[in-house]
Amino acid sequence: MTNRSIFLVGPMGAGKSTIGKLLAAELKLPFADSDKVLEDRTGADIPWIFDVEGEAGFRRRESEVLRDLCTGPTRVVATGGGIVLSPENRRQLRKNGLVIYLQASVDQLLERTSKNANRPLLQVADPRSRIIELVEERDPLYREVSDIVVDTDYCTPRQAALMVAERVAPGATGQ
Ligand code: S3P
Repeated sequence: MTNRSIFLVGPMGAGKSTIGKLLAAELKLPFADSDKVLEDRTGADIPWIFDVEGEAGFRRRESEVLRDLCTGPTRVVATGGGIVLSPENRRQLRKNGLVIYLQASVDQLLERTSKNANRPLLQVADPRSRIIELVEERDPLYREVSDIVVDTDYCTPRQAALMVAERVAPGATGQ
C-alpha cells in the first residue's frame, strides 16, 4: 500500500480519468479528478470557463484546485493535461506525491479525444496538428515531474491501472 498520493499526468486523451478511477479502486484509495473538482466548485463547465475567463482564468483556478488536492487524504488524482505548464504546479506535484506520466501516441490521443467537444484547446480546424504541438511542448514537462512513465497505447484502461498499481504498491493487486 502506498502512503503517498498518486498524480496522473499526461495529454488529453491519455486516459487519466478512466485509469485513475480503476487505479483508485485497485488501491482502495479515494479518487479525485482536478477538472471535475474545478467544475463542481465553479458550477460551470470547462468550455464556459475558457469562454468567460480565458485560459489564464482557467489556469488560476486549476492551480488552486491542485493546491487543495495536495493536502488532505492520500488519494489518486487525475489532473488536467495542462497542469504541468506552471512551474509552481510542477513543484507541488513533485513534492506531494508519486507522479505517473500516462503516455499515448498522437493517433491514439486523436481518436480518444474526437468523441467529445468539451476540450476548448482542441476545438480547432486541425486537431491533429494541435495535439502534436501540445505534446512537443509538454512532453518534457511531464517527464520532468514524473517518477514513472506508462505507455497506454497497447493496453486497456484496466491493464494500465494494474500496471501502475503493481509499480506503486507491489503485491497489492494480487496479479
Ligand atoms: C487541458 C486538458 C483538459 C482540461 C482543459 C485543458 C489541457 O483536461 O483541463 O480542457 O490544457 O491539456 P484533460 O487532460 O483531462 O482532457
